[in-house]
Amino acid sequence: MLTIDLSRVSPFLSGGEIDADAPRALEALRTLVRREGAGAGMLGWLDLPHADEREIGGIADWGKRVQDENDCLVVIGIGGSYLGARAAIEALPGEARFPVVFAGNNLSPEYHARLFDTLSGKRFAVCVISKSGATLEPAVAFRLVRKILAASAGGPEASKRITAVTDRDAGVLRATAAREGWRTFDIPGNVGGRFSVLSPVGLLPCAAAGIPVAELIGGARAELGRSTRMDASNGAVRYASVRHLLHERGVAIEVLSTFHPELASLAEWWKQLAGESEGKGGRGLFPASAVMTTDLHSLGQYLQEGSRLLLETFLAAARPRADIALESAEDDSDGLNYLAGKSLSEVNRCAFEGTRDAHAAGGLPVVTIETPSVTPDSIGALFVFFEVAVSVSARLLGVNPFDQPGVEEYKSRVCRLLGKPRTP
Ligand code: PA5
Repeated sequence: MLTIDLSRVSPFLSGGEIDADAPRALEALRTLVRREGAGAGMLGWLDLPHADEREIGGIADWGKRVQDENDCLVVIGIGGSYLGARAAIEALPGEARFPVVFAGNNLSPEYHARLFDTLSGKRFAVCVISKSGATLEPAVAFRLVRKILAASAGGPEASKRITAVTDRDAGVLRATAAREGWRTFDIPGNVGGRFSVLSPVGLLPCAAAGIPVAELIGGARAELGRSTRMDASNGAVRYASVRHLLHERGVAIEVLSTFHPELASLAEWWKQLAGESEGKGGRGLFPASAVMTTDLHSLGQYLQEGSRLLLETFLAAARPRADIALESAEDDSDGLNYLAGKSLSEVNRCAFEGTRDAHAAGGLPVVTIETPSVTPDSIGALFVFFEVAVSVSARLLGVNPFDQPGVEEYKSRVCRLLGKPRTP
């Protein structure tokens, strides 16, 4: 179960102020649960943790088959069709025994040339994920990967190795998949990209990587119960209140900091979730992230003494997946024998606690979200916790959490520069 520690926001917000905001925040939660309010038609993500055994079993079987028949899986997608799977796979390397590589999340020729080099001589399957089926980056990558796959495996075999994850009814990818006879999985129409990690979008790559998707969903389901409780002690709701109240008082940026590098991609997923859900109408906390202790040696100075427009939220894990003992050395010229008998996780914990106290003393409001461990069920729980919290704080902000009208502007300019023909 996640714990949310708000004690270090007290110089900026008292417990009483957070309590006083609870009715408003719970009302925002109520509108979500009742499927009301702006974007009410895009609340299908609340149903995903209730996926039945048959659906989960089908996804797990697909993953097993990909593993049995191939050397690796290429997952093509961007944004909400990519970040969640990457977050889970990087967080859970113990389970991720089978190589999953990602394409279509940028337009870099260097990135893709290196990827294609690594695929050379390998037997690979492809999972192309795009709700619209029309996003430039995955479409370009898919065209390139299909060519390589057909050249190495032959057309009919290539078709057997391609799986498309897309909208149930609409879009060019759906039409092409039907024509080519590819295996398909549906993205429910009422689930937006950044809320789709617990649909086949996130679960298929996880299943191929060897992550027990039933456990991921189990953790998500348990957290959904906790995060949607109509109770002022609900941690997701209190965190949403804190974010919103601090923003109203001029805080402009939230930095999600973690001392667990394996959670770096989870922070990337969170950045999209928060940024696209809240950054509208000239408002919203700008979501940033820091991976410690690495970033203490680049951002540490700013976090300690830079402009005080920041909220820092630490994402911590109480128990490490692995640990390493530090021993006494005959040669103590590095002066580290004082650490002998401690484990690396204890040293990392001290680094976390010391940094958190220093940043709070330096004038930052600090929140800590702690998971007992990094396991499939706790990663599932974190996905749901953040989805609920961000949806509530977006509702408090008065914006629709489930649209992203602003991304059209750059897309239309890019298409114009590339000479894309207008669709009639
Ligand atoms: O959250 C979103 O809606 C976006 O990030 C999309 O997931 C992203 O743009 C990819 O879109 P699509 O799945 O249609 O290719």
